[in-house]
Amino acid sequence: MTVPITTRNANRNAPTDPLWYKDAIIYQVHVKAFRDANGDGYGDFQGLTEKLDYIANLGVTALWLLPFYPSPLKDDGYDIQLYEAIHPTYGNIEDFREFLEAAHARGLKVITELVINHTSDQHPWFQRARSAPKGSPERDWYVWSDDPKKYSGTRIIFTDTEKSNWSWDPVAEQFYWHRFFSHQPDLNFDNPAVLEAVINVMRFWLKMGVDGLRLDAIPYLIERDGTNCENLPETHVVLKKMRAALDAEFTNRLFLAEANQWPPDVIPYFGNSDECHMAFHFPLMPRMYMALRREDRTPIVEIMQRTPPIPADCQWAIFLRNHDELTLEMVTDEERDYMYNEYATDPRMRINVGIRRRLAPLLDKGRRQIELMNALLMSMPGTPIVYYGDELGMGDNYYLGDRNGVRTPMQWTDGKNAGFSEADSAALYSPVIVDPPYGFQGINVAAQERVKTSLLRWMRRLVGVRKEHRAFGRGTFEPIQAGNKRVLVFMRRFQGETLLCVNNLSRYAQFVELDLAEFHGCVPVDLWSNQPFPQIGELPYLLTMGPHGFYWFRLVSAEEAPPAAGTPDPGARKKS
Ligand code: BGC
Repeated sequence: MTVPITTRNANRNAPTDPLWYKDAIIYQVHVKAFRDANGDGYGDFQGLTEKLDYIANLGVTALWLLPFYPSPLKDDGYDIQLYEAIHPTYGNIEDFREFLEAAHARGLKVITELVINHTSDQHPWFQRARSAPKGSPERDWYVWSDDPKKYSGTRIIFTDTEKSNWSWDPVAEQFYWHRFFSHQPDLNFDNPAVLEAVINVMRFWLKMGVDGLRLDAIPYLIERDGTNCENLPETHVVLKKMRAALDAEFTNRLFLAEANQWPPDVIPYFGNSDECHMAFHFPLMPRMYMALRREDRTPIVEIMQRTPPIPADCQWAIFLRNHDELTLEMVTDEERDYMYNEYATDPRMRINVGIRRRLAPLLDKGRRQIELMNALLMSMPGTPIVYYGDELGMGDNYYLGDRNGVRTPMQWTDGKNAGFSEADSAALYSPVIVDPPYGFQGINVAAQERVKTSLLRWMRRLVGVRKEHRAFGRGTFEPIQAGNKRVLVFMRRFQGETLLCVNNLSRYAQFVELDLAEFHGCVPVDLWSNQPFPQIGELPYLLTMGPHGFYWFRLVSAEEAPPAAGTPDPGARKKS
């Protein structure tokens, strides 16, 4: 389908609102996985630029790119070897500039990765540190010890591969600290030279024009004896310094905190609006899956009750899936067992403390469930992030190692290599998904463009409806405890607009009675059809709902309500 560019993001000349991230809808993509323009089997910046119209026409307003820097790619690029360059397989700085310009021309913001907790062991800083004398300034760029029992209160994150957070370096003849893979030594943020170098990296990309930086793994920047080495006050001091540098030199840019922690531990990453603008809401995500499978809103309602308020200019980032495992770190042991039993029956679907599957397979390809989960994503408080391919209902391949099963090539067509690459199939960085029911022959962009009822076309509509109402991005979140716990009901209010969202988590039809006394006389108008529903009266407001159905209403006065479709037009009746 050819669609004119910028149709959905046509405000490219509008001055940027400093709170743009509150109204954003983010599309998360890996350059490697999207489109291979030069036929070497790996996606690249030229390919991504080619496909920007597709992204813009989804209606999203920002892109989050996974790491694209020179790297041995042992952790898919989160093992960075050089910070201020492009991995040659993905292109060069010129290609990146062209991409950035083309994205901006379509009204798309670009968020990139600032991975500063660790580098690759191939980074020149580490190579210099390991060969420098013990105790020297160069050695001091990383965290070393002669005693691998130091910081013993610290958990291991990659439980499937690592036995310790320390590894022996035969060149340095000391142990080095790493919270992730042993090939990713942690930088030493007690050393001011490290912070200065990191701020310079930050400047490099911001000067280039990127609009935001996702701060990877930031709870782990600082280590202290006798603690769990997470969320330490000194870490917040580092972040405040970074934010001060950002604010001093740049406008309308953004820090997005990746802090996989409980809400009270994440809140400090917003600081007093002097640390990160946004942070992922990790604990909400698994609870959306739990609520769906249990057909009970309680997990969602409880975690939202446990979520403290955040500063007015800050924002949650919410998501259903991403490039990692569906993390189960922020649930109880019992809840984790439940999630594994329900969503990862085959042990191969599990990795570390989580589940390596995509959205559609997690939901057994249930169209109604996929729609409901996306509707929640677009209506719960925060800025939604859509993981590439999930707009098509792409599948996964958990036989691939690590988390690679959710990072397979984007499925464009039913042609060679799913239209991702002209290379020999054997040369692709990853096999494409071939087996039914997720194989690229059936699940691909071209096919879904042809069918009006496709998930892709529905997703565009969903994004479009969300974008018409700022209350979704900026409004209050007010749960309504209706009698039927299979139905999740909440209001979102912003500047005179009131939205009512009603979600049936059950696979069966349900009814719900709502106490809407405050809105007596108002009319709920369906956001999708503009159809008015019956006026709110004295009695509890009754709604009936189909399996996994959802309603989005705006509540308006009777005078503001549009005429109901399907009711006889009095004028027409008179004429006949
Ligand atoms: C990223 C992972 C990565 C890890 C270590 C995480 O926060 O999302 O993909 O493996 O950091 O760099």
